[in-house]
Amino acid sequence: VSASGSLRGKLIGVMLLTALVAVLVAISAMLAYDLHAYHRGWVDDVSTQAEMLGRHSAPALAFDDARVARENLAVLRFQPKIRAAAIYSARGAVFATYVADGEPADAAIPPMPSLEAAVVEDGSLLVFRPIVENRDVVGTVYLRADYELYDRLLGYAGIALVATLVALLVAWVMTSWLRRIVLRPILDVGDAARDVIAREDYSRRVDQRRDDELGALVAAFNEMMGEIERRTETLAATNREKEREVDERRRAQDEVMRLNLALEQRVRDRTAALEQSNRELALATGEAERANQAKSDFLSSMSHELRTPLNAIIGFGQVLGADEGGLPADRRKAFLGHIVAAGQHLLTLINDILNLAQIEAGKVVLSPEPVGMAELLDECRILTDPLTAARGIRLLFPLSLDVVAHADRTRLKQVLLNLLSNAVKYNREQGSVAVECVYVASERLRVTVRDTGLGMRPDQLQSLFQPFNRLGQEHGKQQGTGIGLVVTKHLVELMGGTLGVSSTVGAGTEFCVDLPALPPVAAQAGSPPAAGEVPSVSGGPAATVLCVDDNPASLELVRALLAARPGVHLLSAENGQVGVEMARAHHPDVILMDNNMPVLSGALAQARLRDDPSTAHIPVIAVSANAMPDAVKQGLAAGFFRYLTKPLDPKALAEALDSALQQKRAGDP
Ligand SMILES: Nc1ncnc2c1ncn2[C@@H]1O[C@H](COP(=O)(O)OP(=O)(O)OP(=O)(O)O)[C@@H](O)[C@H]1O
Ligand SMILES: [Mg+2]
Repeated sequence: VSASGSLRGKLIGVMLLTALVAVLVAISAMLAYDLHAYHRGWVDDVSTQAEMLGRHSAPALAFDDARVARENLAVLRFQPKIRAAAIYSARGAVFATYVADGEPADAAIPPMPSLEAAVVEDGSLLVFRPIVENRDVVGTVYLRADYELYDRLLGYAGIALVATLVALLVAWVMTSWLRRIVLRPILDVGDAARDVIAREDYSRRVDQRRDDELGALVAAFNEMMGEIERRTETLAATNREKEREVDERRRAQDEVMRLNLALEQRVRDRTAALEQSNRELALATGEAERANQAKSDFLSSMSHELRTPLNAIIGFGQVLGADEGGLPADRRKAFLGHIVAAGQHLLTLINDILNLAQIEAGKVVLSPEPVGMAELLDECRILTDPLTAARGIRLLFPLSLDVVAHADRTRLKQVLLNLLSNAVKYNREQGSVAVECVYVASERLRVTVRDTGLGMRPDQLQSLFQPFNRLGQEHGKQQGTGIGLVVTKHLVELMGGTLGVSSTVGAGTEFCVDLPALPPVAAQAGSPPAAGEVPSVSGGPAATVLCVDDNPASLELVRALLAARPGVHLLSAENGQVGVEMARAHHPDVILMDNNMPVLSGALAQARLRDDPSTAHIPVIAVSANAMPDAVKQGLAAGFFRYLTKPLDPKALAEALDSALQQKRAGDP
């Protein structure tokens, strides 16, 4: 405001000053000119008057007639501005005078004419004019006239004052007009600018009322505002865009953080899982190492176990081989008995190991059936009895029993024999073994085998079911491989039962087998079938048997086993190739086929026989040293009639032969 006020003030000041100076200068010039003109004109007028008076008065002077002179002067009364007059003689003496009305009578008349032509004195013009007659100065005329220069000056001052006032007024009016047209737009622009700053409203514009320079200024201001508005908008848009970007970036960052957290969680989970599996791995490794250790222990103990019976077999065999008839018959028989016993022991060992391998591989197929416990326990007692006699151990079995288990007969017998053999083996001299069998629920029985033996410590009980672990008995008197109880436990569980144990060191041990059973009533009705007639090698119809085996001893054994069977005609071949040719040539009733042979294996030979229509109907019985369950299964699948394993069981051989012959006869026309 002060700036605009000051601008306004300055504008007014300049305008007024200019007007004032112009008026004053004009008036002064006019005044000077007018006063000068007045002075000259008035002096000329009065001088001319004096000249004329002088001419008229010259004769009066010449004739010294003062009256005429006075009359001449009296004419001046028609000239009111001439206030006094006089005529002087040539010598300068006053000749005649005149004084205008209203002037004092004694109005001063200069006594002597002055040499000056015209003089202004005390507001009066004094003019002296010599009177010239024939080039001689005959006198002088004196006129005193009013000199009105100062009155004029006063009059002019009034005019100047009025003019000045008028000029100032005009200047004032002009100023406010100017203010309106010049200042208004500028102030508008200023107001708009202040407004814009205060309210940040860049859409504000100033009215453009004219097309002059100020209009251009306003237009420029408006354009500038437009530009600012555009830029501001662009800036705002850019800012918004930036904010959006920042927002997006923040969101992306949040997302990254979230993913990071999830990732960390997953890493933690994975790490935990890894640690867990590491722990499991460590456990498994430990177990594997223990199993490995157990296996090595087992192998070394196995080799010991195997060597012991082999020693007997080979030793006695050599003694008998070296004998040239010197040995008495009963000694020879005793030696042979040793050889057979050792061989049987060897067979048991091998069967045990196969058994365990089969069980551990989950390949045991059970056939549950009702099993009368009275008969089963009887059989077990008969088999256990021989072990007890030497050490005076008493066996206490239940006297009468009406319990029928639902189990695989063979496996259950194996379980009970294992427990009984342990109870005897690890008993003391003159100890006892008590067996009980009771129902614990309507379909559940419990067999308890209790001994009065050494018992086991708790830490021993913990390792009781580890394969090959004999709990320190490996150096004891009792033979064993440390797998009896492992097999037992597996079998019991496979049959749906449980095996429990409790033991006191020095007092004895008690094993309980809980098993599924038939309810007590059903048990009486469903008594088990009696053991079937054991097939004999002897008897049976006449037949031709071809035995294919590269091992002469095996061939000899078959020959010996079949010797008791009348009517059997035995042919033999030393490999598969020869076997096939002989079969084609002789058409035997049954073929016994070894597998592992030179030239052509038993399996391939069997395949050729099967594919040849002339031999396809002949039953081929495999007699193989490979007793692995897979091999047995494969052999049967390939079409072998039976799969017998070495060492050859005479009863199994007889049964297989009988069945084969029966089938052959049924098939033959
Ligand atoms: N009734 C028992 N009294 C005391 N110790 C026993 C008894 N039964 C088993 N043991 C201990 O448990 C160990 C393992 O028994 P297990 O029947 O598995 O093997 P083993 O009898 O040594 O050999 P085998 O495999 O020939 O049976 C035995 O070596 C023995 O130390
Ligand atoms: Mg045992």
